[in-house]
Amino acid sequence: MAINKQEHAQWSSSFGFVLAAVGSAVGLGNIWKFPYMVGESGGSAFVIAYLFCLALIGFPILVAEWLIGRRGQKNPINTYSDVAASEGKSRSWSIVGATGILGGFLILSFYSVIGGWALNYITKVGSGSFAGQDSDSVAATFDAMLASAGTLTIWHTVFMVITAVIVGVGVTKGIENAAKILMPLLGVILFVIVGYNVMNGGFGEAVNYLFAPDLSKLNGDVMLAALGHAFFTLSIGMGIMVAYGSYLGRDVNLLSTARTVVILDTVIALAAGLAIFPIIFSNGLDPASGPGLIFVSLPIAFGSMGAGAIIGTLFFLLITFAAVTSSISLLEPTVELLEERTPMSRTVSTIVASIAVWLLGIAALLSFNLWSDFTIMGNGIFDALDKVTSKFMLPLTGLAAIIFVGWQMDQRSIQQELGLSNFTWQLWQIIAKFVAPIAVLIVFVTSLMN
Ligand code: PFF
Repeated sequence: MAINKQEHAQWSSSFGFVLAAVGSAVGLGNIWKFPYMVGESGGSAFVIAYLFCLALIGFPILVAEWLIGRRGQKNPINTYSDVAASEGKSRSWSIVGATGILGGFLILSFYSVIGGWALNYITKVGSGSFAGQDSDSVAATFDAMLASAGTLTIWHTVFMVITAVIVGVGVTKGIENAAKILMPLLGVILFVIVGYNVMNGGFGEAVNYLFAPDLSKLNGDVMLAALGHAFFTLSIGMGIMVAYGSYLGRDVNLLSTARTVVILDTVIALAAGLAIFPIIFSNGLDPASGPGLIFVSLPIAFGSMGAGAIIGTLFFLLITFAAVTSSISLLEPTVELLEERTPMSRTVSTIVASIAVWLLGIAALLSFNLWSDFTIMGNGIFDALDKVTSKFMLPLTGLAAIIFVGWQMDQRSIQQELGLSNFTWQLWQIIAKFVAPIAVLIVFVTSLMN
């Protein structure tokens, strides 16, 4: 972030802001999580539900969170508290800021474990260990990594250290600059893999699987999973976008910026789907194999394409980079909170927060091996952290944000802030007051009844 916290400065430019927002949004959620969620939920039904949730729920909530942040100009807890007070409402709205920060903290613990997988795969693909391997041996390599608590711990630790150093030293400006080159490069590599797939079979089947409307599979669970993922992928429901909004200048158009972020994020996720599913189908793999999906599919392609080791190494490098631009945004709010609310310095706050996240991450990674028998309501620790955050904390925190903007804030000033004409203002009001909150509630209630 090109900001100076003390003076609460603003983004150096609206482009810098878009970049940071895209950096937070585009990450493992798009490339690792989206494809396996599609696979687990049976394909296009999930994709359709997801696109619906992005447009009608995610988009307005993203705008709402920025709007609140821009009003409050502080960390999410103080922002909610101050903005509520200035609207004559209870300061207890600050709880929404707090659940957001807690959500980010919990997500980072397992996010870092997956970031570690990606790091490990840079070395594996780079050393040519997948050259000429068939799907069974690629899957065996992945299973061996999961079974080794030591390997997972090492890479999770490396990932967490990278995140902590960037947040602690505050070199986010450098990250912003690197992102300008590396994020587009990630897009290019994805499309190279998609191109490879077009030539190598399974492509038509994958397109069908992802896009041919099959609503028979749509149910409450799929909707809830899609809703949760829409929040996860846009980094909303977590106070992060509220915090980013606090650095936003008045001149930035929230609606068009949100549109850019949502579109870029969606394009990357769908491209990841087209990069992965053709390989799954042409190699007879199971699309529903869960969190390992990209790690058991892509190396097959890298093992057999020309220059596969180079392209594969670059690919895992770039998703690690995308993961880091997201993980720093996950750690920052906790660090900021500790720094502002305790006597600890920024460095000590970063160390304390990172160690706490790291420890929870160890518990998460042990659920793949030594602690695989330990479950919380039927889920291992990794899954439990994922589900509690994506399916409950994010949607509820985001719901609170849109209710706050739709029902608690002075509507005239919101109209000014969004700069809408009469017609578009009516449309915004219908969506912010009714469509988005009711949709979140319906998804919730339906899935509880299932
Ligand atoms: N949006 C990121 C992704 O899709 O990988 C993950 C994430 C980052 C979630 C930051 C939440 C967040 F606050």
